[in-house]
Amino acid sequence: MQKREELYRGKAKTVYLTDDENRLVLEFRNDTSAFDGQKVEQLARKGMVNNKFNNFIMTKLQEAGIPTQLESMLSDNESLVKKLAMIPVECVVRNVAAGSMCRRLGVQEGTELQPPTFEFFLKNDELHDPMVNEYHILSFGWADQAQIDKMKELTFKVNDVLKALFDTAGMILVDYKLEFGDFNGEITLGDEFTPDGCRLWDKETREKLDKDRFRQGLGGVVEAYEEVANRLGVDLD
Ligand code: TMP
Ligand code: ASP
Repeated sequence: MQKREELYRGKAKTVYLTDDENRLVLEFRNDTSAFDGQKVEQLARKGMVNNKFNNFIMTKLQEAGIPTQLESMLSDNESLVKKLAMIPVECVVRNVAAGSMCRRLGVQEGTELQPPTFEFFLKNDELHDPMVNEYHILSFGWADQAQIDKMKELTFKVNDVLKALFDTAGMILVDYKLEFGDFNGEITLGDEFTPDGCRLWDKETREKLDKDRFRQGLGGVVEAYEEVANRLGVDLD
């Protein structure tokens, strides 16, 4: 496999073409962004930690029967993935109220959500990722009903797998965001699963171990990601 030219530069990852039209290289950078790219900083080691963390989680999800784009890790900062036709919506499951839900609905952070709740957001920084519903997705043709149903089913299945995984390692999976795409007609998990795109709290102290440390200026961002990785047994060497 030969890495070719840059296809797309996102806020935290760069995507490269390869000599195989169905494969891409994802490069995890140290750039860390929040508030739709308004706050950006370079955090040493973050690209490496997130690449290895993502590899670990995607492998667990694949083993649980969830189709993912991950093929293999190529280097500390790069992974080889299937090229998906991405669906421009973000799928969010929340087990505990935090973040935008608290601002939107006036609920207190930490309120347990039973059953967990599901939200769709449009992936569009300029519009600040507005919340959308299934009718918007259908009307604008972003996905069809079968794809919507599959994204919801898989996002909840991820919850079953990862809630248990983090619980065993002493953490609460508060919420997370997933992105899907189509690969040969199959809805497949794309993008990443790292502490950049989820909320994780220590089970006992409720200390935040995710990107909220960056958003809220709490410091120790990458140290927290490494702590999460170490608790799960992710090999960071
Ligand atoms: P929110 O509370 O800001 O709506 O975010 C919910 C979860 O989804 C949180 O873990 C952060 C993640 N998320 C992203 O990573 N990127 C996004 O663009 C959005 C909207 C959410
Ligand atoms: N939406 C994500 C966040 O709130 C990433 C970003 O917008 O930069 O952190």
